[in-house]
Amino acid sequence: MGGAQYPSLKGRVTFITGGASGIGASLVAQFHAQGARVAFIDRQEEAGQALAERLPGVWFRALDVTDTAALTQAIAAAGAELGQVSVLVNNVADDTRRAADATSPEAWRAALAVNLDPVFVASTVVHPMMRSAGAGAIINVSSINALWGAAGMAGYVAAKGAINSLTKALAREWGPDGVRVNALSPGWVATERQLELWLTPQAEAEWARQVALPGRITPDDIARAALFLASDDSRMMTGQNLVIDAGRT
Ligand SMILES: NC(=O)c1ccc[n+]([C@@H]2O[C@H](COP(=O)([O-])OP(=O)(O)OC[C@H]3O[C@@H](n4cnc5c(N)ncnc54)[C@H](O)[C@@H]3O)[C@@H](O)[C@H]2O)c1
Repeated sequence: MGGAQYPSLKGRVTFITGGASGIGASLVAQFHAQGARVAFIDRQEEAGQALAERLPGVWFRALDVTDTAALTQAIAAAGAELGQVSVLVNNVADDTRRAADATSPEAWRAALAVNLDPVFVASTVVHPMMRSAGAGAIINVSSINALWGAAGMAGYVAAKGAINSLTKALAREWGPDGVRVNALSPGWVATERQLELWLTPQAEAEWARQVALPGRITPDDIARAALFLASDDSRMMTGQNLVIDAGRT
């Protein structure tokens, strides 16, 4: 696996949400390749098991993040089995498209329940572990859609905007404990799901006209930035939003 090695990540217990596919699977593999002790959750049981079996020592549990109690218990269980969590990557999301006018109050609430609530819940569960260790890094995966306001996914965009503000709020509140909180905002990343559902040749040509750099953004491009934010190399960075979008914004 190419890219930089971060000695400070070796042995560090890293908890990743939504790790079974897409950018999450790359995060799991990249942190594992650094020698971190990786735990991840996802609602896709088969894909999660298969990934964990390929990477010795990786801990996996299938759950739905909207089940707050299950998410809380999984983080506690991973902490008990692998050691106190010192890196949390809040990656899980659901970018289902829906016009604002067609979004019922229930659908609005559901969008926040999967895209926003788990970020707060998981962060507050790991914070005491990080505080007692005197250090920790939380990385919230946001999106450039919150920066320019993508149409047709108001719940997702609003959740990502809230994540950006939450990142700043927690960075200030928990900085004195040695806990750093940063966000990552990817542009359009060529995951299997995006390629299957939305990243058509036509859409990709339109995207290519908007960016500064040619070529696709890959899941590894995002995961490598997360490694940096988790490592001691970024020790004086907190409350920031690192944009990886080939120059789109
Ligand atoms: N792919 C992109 O172009 C892009 C762009 C900007 C931001 N992002 C962000 O990057 C992160 C990862 O994106 P991705 O494209 O890999 O997403 P994805 O949809 O491919 O993967 C998300 C993972 O979360 C899991 N998941 C979804 N809902 C769940 C639930 N309720 N409970 C448990 N697991 C659940 C899925 O099974 C999947 O493995 C997300 O935060 C997303 O918003 C992605």
